[in-house]
Amino acid sequence: MAVFVGPVANKFLFTNVNNLLNVWWPPSVKKLMRFSLPQVVGDEAMRMRQILMTSADRDARKNYVDRMDLVAQNHIRTHWEGKQELSCRIFASIDEPVHISRLAYHFDIFLKRVIHFPTNLPGTTCYRAPKAANAIKEEIRLIARQRRAALDKKMESHKKIFYSSGKFLSESEIVDNLLLLLLASHDTTTALITCVMMYLGELPEYFLQTTIDCLWLTEQSDITKSKEPGELLKLEDTQKMRYSWSVVSKVLRLIPPIIGAFREAVVDFTYAGYIIPKGWKLYWSPDTTIKDPAYFPNAEDFDPSRYGGAGPVPYTYVPFGGGPRMCLGYEYLKPVILVFLHNIAKRFKWDSLIPDEKVTYNPLPSPSQGLPIRLQLH
Ligand code: HEM
Repeated sequence: MAVFVGPVANKFLFTNVNNLLNVWWPPSVKKLMRFSLPQVVGDEAMRMRQILMTSADRDARKNYVDRMDLVAQNHIRTHWEGKQELSCRIFASIDEPVHISRLAYHFDIFLKRVIHFPTNLPGTTCYRAPKAANAIKEEIRLIARQRRAALDKKMESHKKIFYSSGKFLSESEIVDNLLLLLLASHDTTTALITCVMMYLGELPEYFLQTTIDCLWLTEQSDITKSKEPGELLKLEDTQKMRYSWSVVSKVLRLIPPIIGAFREAVVDFTYAGYIIPKGWKLYWSPDTTIKDPAYFPNAEDFDPSRYGGAGPVPYTYVPFGGGPRMCLGYEYLKPVILVFLHNIAKRFKWDSLIPDEKVTYNPLPSPSQGLPIRLQLH
C-alpha cells in the first residue's frame, strides 16, 4: 500500500480515477453490496451516480427541506438520539413507522459490523453483518417492488428512483444502492452533528454573543423571527445560513468524520519517482492537508472567509474527497445539518459537562465519554 500526502497527491488521486486508478472499498463492503456504486467504474459509475444524485438535486432538496424540518422537530421533541429515520424518508420515501423501526433494528447490527475481518464463525461480527444486511435488503426489496408497481401505474413521483439516461436500475442495483446510501449517510451525519454540538457546547459564553463564532446564532434567530408560528423551513432559509455552515465547515476541518479512503492502481505507473505496481492500494487522508498550518494557519480561529471567496488552496480542504468519486451526499448533507442546528438553536442552549472531552475514531469520530451536556430551554 502507498500513502499519498498533500494537495498535489490528493489532486493526482482524485483526477486520475478511471485512468490510472479506481476507488477501492474493503471486501466486506463489496460483499454486502455487490451491485452498488463502489463496485462499478467509468461510464457505468457516472450513470449510477447521476441516478443516485437525483435524490439530492435542487428540485429534490426544495421538496424535502420542510420534511427534514418536521422530522427534526419530532425527533427533538420525542427522543433526542440517533435514528436513521431521515435517510429512510428521503432516499426511499419510507414513512411507515413499522418499516422504519424494522430497518433501524437490523441497520444497527449491520453498521456496527460492516468493517470487519473476514471470518465466518457464529457469534462473530462477520457472521451477523450479512444476516442483518439481508434482512434490510428484503425490506428494501419489498418497498422497491411496491414502487415499481406504482411506477407502472404512471406515478411520476417515484420514477426518478429507478430511471435515468434512458435506462432502469435493476432491482438488485436499487436495493444495494439504497443500502449504500443508508450506510454512507447515517453514521457520518450523526458523527458530524455530535461533533458540532460538542464544539459549540465547549465555546465559552457563546450565548453571550461576544465572539465571532456567535454570528451563526444571530443568523439563526433572524430566520426564526422571519417565520410565522408553525411555518416550516424552506431550502432558501438554509441558503441564508452562511455562518452556521462556516461553523460546520470548521468542525469538518478540526474533526473530519472520514479519516481517509482508498484507491487501487489499475495499471503500473510512476508517481514522484516511485513505481506503483498494478493492484496496489493507495490511501489518502484529509488530515494531511486540513491539519497542516501551511494551508490553515491558526486552525482554531473561526474565520468564515476561509471557505468563501477564493477559498482554501485547491485540494487542501477535502473532508468529502474530490474528483469524479467525491462524496455523493454533500448536497444532501448540508440542509440536513443546518435544519437540525436551526431546531436546536431555536429551543436550547447547552454546554458540555466534560470540558475538552477526547474524540476517538472507530472508524468514525465520537466523544469518548458520550458527550454529556447540560441542556436548557430558552
Ligand atoms: C459528514 C458527512 C460525510 C462525510 C464527511 C463524507 C465523506 C465522504 C468521503 C471522504 C468519501 C470518499 C470520497 C473518495 O473516495 O474520494 C465519500 C464517499 C461517498 N459518500 Fe459521503 N460523506 C458524508 C456523508 C454522506 C451522505 C449523507 C451520503 C448519502 C447521501 C454519502 C454518500 C456517499 C457515497 C455514495 C460515496 C461513494 C461515492 C462514489 O464512490 O462514487 N456521504 N463520502
